[in-house]
Amino acid sequence: MSKVPDESTVRAAVSLAARAPSIHNSQPWQWRLADSSVHLFADTSRLLPATDPDGRDLLISCGATLHHLRVALAAEGWATTVTRLPNPSQPDHLAAICCHQQTPSAEDIALASAIPQRRTDRRRFSSWPVPPNLLDDLTKLAAEQGAVLIPATDPNDRFTLALAITEASLRQQDNPDYASELATWAGRSSLAVEGVPASNIPAHETHHDDTTMRAFPHGVLTQAPAGDQNDAAELLVLATATDEPVSRLRAGEAMSAVLLSATALRLATCPVSQVLEIEATRELVRTRVLDGFGFPQIVLRIGWAPTENPPLPATPRRALAEVLEHFPDACPS
Ligand SMILES: Cc1cc2nc3c(=O)[nH]c(=O)nc-3n(C[C@H](O)[C@H](O)[C@H](O)COP(=O)(O)O)c2cc1C
Repeated sequence: MSKVPDESTVRAAVSLAARAPSIHNSQPWQWRLADSSVHLFADTSRLLPATDPDGRDLLISCGATLHHLRVALAAEGWATTVTRLPNPSQPDHLAAICCHQQTPSAEDIALASAIPQRRTDRRRFSSWPVPPNLLDDLTKLAAEQGAVLIPATDPNDRFTLALAITEASLRQQDNPDYASELATWAGRSSLAVEGVPASNIPAHETHHDDTTMRAFPHGVLTQAPAGDQNDAAELLVLATATDEPVSRLRAGEAMSAVLLSATALRLATCPVSQVLEIEATRELVRTRVLDGFGFPQIVLRIGWAPTENPPLPATPRRALAEVLEHFPDACPS
């Protein structure tokens, strides 16, 4: 029995992992393939200093691609053992991944099938509520990945969170460095291999009921008219017990688990990170929504898309050759 997946299996898994969401579609990761292990590195040259000054979004993005890789390998019959931050003297070396054979479960296959279907949907969602039992299921999935998912269903929490999101958006709008960074990364042609394409940015709306969405420029995406229907999306805060890099990586893994499972359930999703990119509004969420427990890492907007909305195009990704290289073996056999 083979001890390691062959190169074509790993290359296919890394291609699927590249479909992970990342801040402004910056894809801030690098994969290295050794003889019996795969290694994830942060590509800090892709840090967005004005949007993400302390690199939280970058690490969350890397956690998402790590979880996508694990899901892709599991569906091919390879369970993974992950050592996170394996080398304290090399903080960009985020994970060493070793594989062992295991029969894939139906859930492994369903999650992997959700990878190419998932999209960040910034449009208005429908008035159908998300049933509480589905929120409970998503909460359990986040817990399995070492994070806590807190739905802001209490009206006071929701009010505070929505207000903090708006406040963060206003503060970022006033920051010229943020505006020029956003203009560089967003509203691109769909031929670009990174950044947020104009085709995935709503042409008009930047508010959905109480929720202010990030105002990306040059959007051309249209959506079904709302009429008098409210938008019943839930806002869920993903938090971790500590604020260390490893917790942020795990938050990204948990975010990926939640987004892929939600996609498999046909829910629409959108990460919302502005509120945590401004220290004061992050602190507000930590003290007022989380009651001081833990550290908020990302907010997720989850709901049902109106059936009339056309499907969203997939956003582009860099070529595999740009993100995958060979590397001498570093994993104990
Ligand atoms: C850490 C993180 C933060 C993000 N923040 C936002 C956000 O505030 N608003 C938004 O519309 N999308 C946000 N996104 C979604 C990315 O823009 C999206 O993943 C990227 O453009 C790729 O598109 P896709 O998710 O459809 O594949 C975020 C994604 C990540 C991983």
